[in-house]
Amino acid sequence: MAGSGVDEVERNVLSAAQDADDRRVEPSLRPQRLADYLGQEKIVKLLDVYMRAARQRGEALDHVLLFGPPGLGKTTLAHIIAREMGSALRATSGPVLERAGDLAAILTNLEPGDVLFIDEIHRLGPTVEEILYPALEDFQLDLVIGQGPMAKSMRIDLPRFTLVGATTRAGMITAPLQARFGIVHRLDLYDSDVLTRILQRSADVLEAPIDEGGANEIARRSRGTPRIANRLLRRVRDYAQIEADGRVDRTTATEALEQLEVDDHGLDEIDRKIMRILIEQYGGGPAGLKALAASVGEDQGTIEDNYEPYLVQQGFLQRTSRGREATNKAYGHLGLGCSDDPSKNKRPSKNKRLF
Ligand SMILES: Nc1ncnc2c1ncn2[C@@H]1O[C@H](COP(=O)(O)OP(=O)(O)OP(=O)(O)O)[C@@H](O)[C@H]1O
Ligand SMILES: [Mg+2]
Repeated sequence: MAGSGVDEVERNVLSAAQDADDRRVEPSLRPQRLADYLGQEKIVKLLDVYMRAARQRGEALDHVLLFGPPGLGKTTLAHIIAREMGSALRATSGPVLERAGDLAAILTNLEPGDVLFIDEIHRLGPTVEEILYPALEDFQLDLVIGQGPMAKSMRIDLPRFTLVGATTRAGMITAPLQARFGIVHRLDLYDSDVLTRILQRSADVLEAPIDEGGANEIARRSRGTPRIANRLLRRVRDYAQIEADGRVDRTTATEALEQLEVDDHGLDEIDRKIMRILIEQYGGGPAGLKALAASVGEDQGTIEDNYEPYLVQQGFLQRTSRGREATNKAYGHLGLGCSDDPSKNKRPSKNKRLF
């Protein structure tokens, strides 16, 4: 019982999915302007140019599609785009738009230049998606009113608007939908230097005194994800307030994170399980994602979204054309012996532990 309770806490605190507490606090931590959106330099630079050009011409920005794992700033960027364009943001999501009429109602209420944000856009149904095609391309809505022989088709002009679509599942966007976005970009996990700056900014907003060492210690264990970094900051701040003098420095951050059982690399049970299974059941790999997910007992999409990117970024896992392979660093981290051959990264004997 006690053990599983600890596992729960450990998994929650490092999960990239938004929890109730995040939902409450995140709006206040969201950077409002592009200049405050740290990291993701490539998309920030491109968007800055595209938005300035569109503003100069008095036009709506091209449609934008943002891919990437949860908690990396897709929703934040959608809000920033609306603000920088001086437009209103209308937000909805794929699962909410059940019928074509739901989307038609939103589209016909848009004002010129508005930003329509559709989260989880990969979950749009086919009939809803079909309505979206002419709306995106020609700013027209094709509606069929009535049924059977009495049915009439109608074409309505829509104002020029910008669609910002977000998804964690790049592979699940249909090709015709993707083709209608002028700007398509994947957000990457953040490196710890950028996360350190994000944490310093968040601490400022929360009026929590933090030094660079404290911010860096939290950043290192945040799985490259601002949402997790901000969550850990709130927990560490509580610890510093009660157990120390309120200042978050490296020592208090380390103590607080150890108490939360956050691993030195920000790895959780599932990360370790993925590496262990890859090594022990697949001889280090290569293993296909589907087979690996089945062995780990997790959904393939969850592994792809929440685990694999971080394991790859940290150098524990590599994706090759033949499948997923454990690296020497993974063997080392789990205390398993490994091969000298860097291309194989396999330990010589499956059962022999060298250290
Ligand atoms: N580049 C950034 N700079 C500063 N803070 C950021 C940045 N990106 C994200 N954040 C912070 O991380 C939190 C989570 O970001 P956001 O909600 O935009 O993620 P998301 O990609 O939409 O996640 P999901 O896939 O779960 O919808 C935000 O509240 C924001 O404070
Ligand atoms: Mg979001």
